[in-house]
Amino acid sequence: MGTLIKNGTVVNADGSAKLDVLIDGEKIAAVGLGLSEDGHEVVDATGLLVMPGGIDVHTHLDMPFGGTTSADDYTSGTQAAAIGGTTTVIDFALQNQASTLKDALATWLKKSDGKACVDFSLHMAVTNLHGKDGEETLAEMEEMVRFGITSFKLFMAYPNVLMINDELMFRVMQKAAALNSLCLIHAENGSAIDVVVSQMIAEGKTEPHYHALSRSPKAEAEATHRSIALADMAGAAVYIVHLSNEDALAAFKFMQGRGAKCLAETCIQYLVLSIEDQMPGRSWDEAKFVFTPPLREKRNQAPLWEALADNTLAVVSTDHCPFTMEQKALGKGDFRKIPNGGPGIENRLQILWHFGVNTGRITPEKFVELAATAPAKIFGMEAHKGVIRVGVDGDILLWDPKAEYTISAKTQRMATDYSMFEGWTVKGNAAKVFSRGELVVDNTTRPGEFLGATGRGRFVRREANAGGFA
Ligand code: URP
Ligand code: ZN
Ligand code: ZN
Ligand code: ZN
Repeated sequence: MGTLIKNGTVVNADGSAKLDVLIDGEKIAAVGLGLSEDGHEVVDATGLLVMPGGIDVHTHLDMPFGGTTSADDYTSGTQAAAIGGTTTVIDFALQNQASTLKDALATWLKKSDGKACVDFSLHMAVTNLHGKDGEETLAEMEEMVRFGITSFKLFMAYPNVLMINDELMFRVMQKAAALNSLCLIHAENGSAIDVVVSQMIAEGKTEPHYHALSRSPKAEAEATHRSIALADMAGAAVYIVHLSNEDALAAFKFMQGRGAKCLAETCIQYLVLSIEDQMPGRSWDEAKFVFTPPLREKRNQAPLWEALADNTLAVVSTDHCPFTMEQKALGKGDFRKIPNGGPGIENRLQILWHFGVNTGRITPEKFVELAATAPAKIFGMEAHKGVIRVGVDGDILLWDPKAEYTISAKTQRMATDYSMFEGWTVKGNAAKVFSRGELVVDNTTRPGEFLGATGRGRFVRREANAGGFA
């Protein structure tokens, strides 16, 4: 006996059709017209869209940062994801500069153990190389790939903590190329930004919005170009994370046009929020928008939307990195000490649908591509995730395009005491969410609740496919 989803419209990245979907155990067993109900539990999806569960490839759960730890652990973070329609997340394991990749992996597997509620995977952030010419750490990259971690994150910002210099970055890129894996880049010129930051502090510019003013779009554009050029030299595929503005987009397009194997994502916050939402006058409240890259001028939003629609940008993620206002208060009087990051994992699909599909900027099929299908393909999970097709995991989102939902910190599952989108009413929301065949969220009967067992989420081992360029 399986679960038969009837009368809905299946939306895949390559097209939509009225089709029934049968889930048997953990997998999709049949997709077709008028499937027989015999013995199955029937879910009526009349008026609903049947889509692959969302995949958020950029989250920071239980992450140490700036003397504190992000407020969502693997339980609250993955439950919030599911409530918003996301059934897979890829989080970041961070190498401690003095330590090994194996240590980082062990640390993050422990954080998730018994806690993850939907399926998850990890990228490995390489922050230092050990051994002659880095050989010890580079050898560890092979072990990571064997374990199913096929993407390596490099930070060009956050000097002394996470930032890696060009020599080490280039060595990692060469190794990644040899391993058919993908390099993820936080592209900002951290050294130049730190000069500006020190000068601002010396001038007494300590309020939260100076965080944004200290991080020029040009620093992002420069690092975007540099990282793609270096990856191209190394023969590696790269994926630029959280691309936030038109200058960086121009740098990206230039290298893409030259044939470099490069991909990029943007995040929901850059599509719908701007520095005008953060500017002076709001005083301490500005701190809730302190994340990196910062909010940009509003004029950057339209080019980002266009780049999603015309296939320049491949993915929309969140960079979910939540801190409570009490944690943000570590930086009262000194914006350098405000932990960087914002909460979004629960709202990604609502925001992308409301401001993307409802406005006609993207189609429902494009929504599925940006939120699930491209993430699965780029990150080596397409055999299991990101599409409604026989044989893949029963990660299914029943989406109600008519449902209205008002976003508020009071009702969210995320652990923060604020929302970046407080009071916004969106149209389009997750109705029911299945994870490997199990109904884990039913917002129509028990809104905002996670119905599955804590710890049921599994680690997803990913293929090394060089971001799909292999
Ligand atoms: O502000 C942010 N984004 N914090 C998380 C770390 C990063 O740079 O992605
Ligand atoms: Zn980053
Ligand atoms: Zn991040
Ligand atoms: Zn699977």
